[in-house]
Amino acid sequence: MVCLGNICRSPLAEGLMKSKLNFTKFTVDSAGTSSGHKGEAPDKRSIAVAKKYGLDISKQKSRKLLEEDFKNFDVLYVMDQSNYNDVTALASTEEQKKKVIKILDEVFPGENLDVPDPYYGGSTGFENIYRMLDRATDVIAQKMDNHIK
Ligand code: 4NP
Repeated sequence: MVCLGNICRSPLAEGLMKSKLNFTKFTVDSAGTSSGHKGEAPDKRSIAVAKKYGLDISKQKSRKLLEEDFKNFDVLYVMDQSNYNDVTALASTEEQKKKVIKILDEVFPGENLDVPDPYYGGSTGFENIYRMLDRATDVIAQKMDNHIK
């Protein structure tokens, strides 16, 4: 799960995805395209909205996306078009580029929608992105479960 700072959107996506997949069969992680918040815990507003819905994401730490993530992971879900452009620019093969998917494409295929950056907004923005990511991770969990059956 990849966003810009790895403190607002992708930590929520990581927490939600981990809560829906069998951890013995899947590895879920998150990262940012920038290292501006490296080592920091998620934004307080992300921690709060996750807590409201019963998820603890407070122990996560921001890290920058690495080239080796393309080898270690089968899919790299990004939140918006800017993340998509930054992450695909790091891919070294066509196959790696195909691993990069805008997460809302899983819910609204072909509509090219973004999970908006909530950093400079209020807490309503965090509630909104939580709902979007909850829906997207439901679809992904279903898909992954079918894939391994
Ligand atoms: P995120 O949000 O990409 O969802 O973690 C942001 C976090 C920090 C900044 C921008 C977006 N920033 O400019 O520091």
